[in-house]
Amino acid sequence: MTVEPPLCYLNGEYMALESARISPLDRGFLFGDAVYEVIPVYGGVPFRLDTHLGRLTASLTATRIPAPLDAAGWRAVIDRLVEAEGGGDQTVYLQVSRGAPPNRDHAFPQEAEPTVFAMASPLPDTSALREHGVAVTTADDIRWQRCDIKSVALLANVLLRQDALDRGAQESVLVRDDRVTEGSASNIFLVRGGVLITPELEGGILSGVTRDLILELARAGNRPVECRRVDAEELTGADEIWLTSSTKEVIPVTRLDGRPVGGGTPGPYYRDMRAWFDEYKADYAEGRSA
Ligand code: PDD
Repeated sequence: MTVEPPLCYLNGEYMALESARISPLDRGFLFGDAVYEVIPVYGGVPFRLDTHLGRLTASLTATRIPAPLDAAGWRAVIDRLVEAEGGGDQTVYLQVSRGAPPNRDHAFPQEAEPTVFAMASPLPDTSALREHGVAVTTADDIRWQRCDIKSVALLANVLLRQDALDRGAQESVLVRDDRVTEGSASNIFLVRGGVLITPELEGGILSGVTRDLILELARAGNRPVECRRVDAEELTGADEIWLTSSTKEVIPVTRLDGRPVGGGTPGPYYRDMRAWFDEYKADYAEGRSA
C-alpha cells in the first residue's frame, strides 16, 4: 500500500508538501512580512471558519497585503486539503506573505503577487494536558505593540515559549507594565471568586477565536465575565487559570512559577467549561450550532 504524502496548496496549485518550493527572496522568509491563521477542524468541519477568515482579512488589511482569495476561495482550498487528509480532526494552517520580488528592499515591492500557502495536519493530542493541567512561568512581554495582527514574525514568541520549556513549564504567561497580556501562543483566563476574568483586547493582544467562544459559553451558562485590565499580582491569588488556543482548546494551568494554582489540580469551573466546550464542538461538527 502506498501512503500518499500530505498535500498542500501553494499559489493556486495543489502538490505534495515535500515538493512545495518558495523563493529565498520571499518576504515572509526575509522579513517575516506575512500573516497566518490556524484553524481547527472537527469531524471534517472547519471550526468557526468565518471568524478565522475575518481575522485573516483584518491582518491582511493592517499589513496592506492584498487579499489573494475571497471567503469562498479559502473555503474551497480548506475543504480540499481536509478531504485529502481523510476528514476527522485536523488543523489547517494558512499563510499569506507579501510575495517574492526580485530584490531585497524593506519598502513594499511595486510588483509582487502575495505568496499563498495552506496545509492540513493532524490535530495535536492535548488530552493529557487537559486531564492533568500544565505548568506556566511568567515572563516579560518583549513583543511588539501590534500583537492584534496575526503575523508570522514570531521570534519573540518562539524565545518566550522556549524559555518556559527550559524552566520545565509548557507556556510563558506574558506581563507588560505590570499587566497580564496573554500566553506566548495562547490567551489567558483567570477565575477569582466565581468570576471569569480575561485581559481586554485594548491591552494589545490577539483576539483569539477560542477566547471569544469561552466568553460566549460562560455567558450562556449565566456566569459573570470581566474583560478588563488584569494586574500581574492577580495571577497569584487566582482560584483557576486557563489557557486557550485553536490547537490547545482550553487547558487548565495547575502551576504558576513553581507554585500550585488553587488546589494544584484542574478546578471545578474548568470541568464545567470543558464539558460545555466539548458539547459545543460536537454540535458544531454536526451542524447544530453556529
Ligand atoms: N496561536 N495569542 C497568541 C499570541 C497566539 O499565538 C494564539 C494562537 C492565541 C489564541 O488564538 P486562537 O484561539 O484564535 O487560536 C492567542 C496559534 C494556535 C499558533 O500560533 O499556532
